[in-house]
Amino acid sequence: MKIIEVQDYQQMSRRAAEYIIKKVVQNPSINLGLATGGTPIGTYKCLIEDHQKSGTSYQKVTTFNLDEYIGLSGDNENSYRYFMDNQLFNYININKANTNVPSGIAADFQEECKRYEDLITKHGGIDLQILGIGSNGHIGFNEPGTSFSSKTHIVELEESTIQANARYFNRIEEVPTKAITMGISTIMKSKEILLLVSGEEKREALARLLDGEIIHESFPASVLKNHPCVTIIADKVAIADLKVQC
Ligand code: PGA
Repeated sequence: MKIIEVQDYQQMSRRAAEYIIKKVVQNPSINLGLATGGTPIGTYKCLIEDHQKSGTSYQKVTTFNLDEYIGLSGDNENSYRYFMDNQLFNYININKANTNVPSGIAADFQEECKRYEDLITKHGGIDLQILGIGSNGHIGFNEPGTSFSSKTHIVELEESTIQANARYFNRIEEVPTKAITMGISTIMKSKEILLLVSGEEKREALARLLDGEIIHESFPASVLKNHPCVTIIADKVAIADLKVQC
């Protein structure tokens, strides 16, 4: 894993956007894996600014999001489809038909999981996956204990995840308790992974990832150590006094 230490959230966002833009320019038909949450918002803002200033084109890009809440349709403002449309897709020249988010309102979720997994495979897999990390070490919505061989599946969210995400809802009771997420093996099949880490509340998770803890399903992000091409962009507050090679 390569680690890039940056000053703060703003710099993390800029570095991440530069990284993504370079890949999109190199491969205009790239398959991007995208994430939601507070971490990538600044990155998406930088992508939009660049698109407006420099005209980087997303016309041929295909995207696959990591996850979606069960029970929320795309027009619900807490859904991840809504998030992606409003934080990124509506402001770049991407073809919406090429943006994929698992459905939170499918009639048959087993079928939806299979459809999503097959769709990624049919497109030749994800070239670059953007990831955040949960304070409990989750990646996507793969909570501790998730099998490393999991494909797209339905999960029960941990209490800590529900609490962390409650800030986006009016009341904690409104936070869905289930989600559909790419599995760990789905994420690990990505050719390249860019993990973004910012803030004090991620310090412990980053320390567990970097401090040589064994690779174990009790800490999902540890699986990334088995991936041949992971870059972490982390800010100073998250890195704290960890000894990292930049
Ligand atoms: P956050 O979530 O970006 O909102 O901190 C990250 C995650 O839970 O994966």
